[in-house]
Amino acid sequence: MKGVVLAGGLGSRLKPLTKVTNKHLLPVYDQPMIYYPIKTLINAGIDDIMIVTGGNSAGDFLKLLGNGKDFGLKHVNYTYQEGEGGIADALSLVEHFADDEPVCVVLGDNIIENNIRAAADDYRKQGGGAKILLKKVHDPQRFGVPELEGDRVLRIEEKPSEPKSDFAVIGIYFYDNTVFDIIKTLKPSDRGELEITDVNNHYIDRNEMTWAELDGWWTDAGTFESLLHATNLVAKSGANKV
Ligand code: G1P
Repeated sequence: MKGVVLAGGLGSRLKPLTKVTNKHLLPVYDQPMIYYPIKTLINAGIDDIMIVTGGNSAGDFLKLLGNGKDFGLKHVNYTYQEGEGGIADALSLVEHFADDEPVCVVLGDNIIENNIRAAADDYRKQGGGAKILLKKVHDPQRFGVPELEGDRVLRIEEKPSEPKSDFAVIGIYFYDNTVFDIIKTLKPSDRGELEITDVNNHYIDRNEMTWAELDGWWTDAGTFESLLHATNLVAKSGANKV
């Protein structure tokens, strides 16, 4: 399984912090934001990694990460997303890199307390389809929200005003290689982006979606409030525990 960190976009919700640098290079407590999703992949035994960069400071990712020596890697792959086409648009850029393998995709602003080893092992055994991770939150309106029936996901709604559960779909996803064909069929949403929620609903329609609940805390860090929250969580209890 290959790993993908999506670190494109312009970080508009964090202006002026993102006026001269990329969101994913900003500090979360004592490390640049992008260190956390990279560690999430490595702790799950995934060391062939592509970073999708974007924005005006893409070259700084290379300066910061090089070939990943600080993470014990021999090599890191990079590509560049133009504009703000959304998560699924960014993912479409890694088709060649994925080759015929499944991918574990982590959003560059998603930080977790523990690790996803068990979910990655379960997905490897699943032999195709997709898997998402869920976490109970007090503000599901901010996220993709699943409607659940037992161990089945019936549907996911993106930022619903009346959420059908109090779970968020967190930004860590497992996909087989058909994800790239799915993305080619997508149309931009009202916010002008190719939505990862639409990708997930395709897998649900095909009866090929499983889910698991993440243990430990999870947060994104793409707004002032969540960036502060992420910093406080990491400072208090550390992240990416193995
Ligand atoms: C994105 C996804 C959303 C998911 C969230 C997790 O939201 O669209 O489904 O719950 O990441 O961080 P965005 O950060 O683009 O608003």
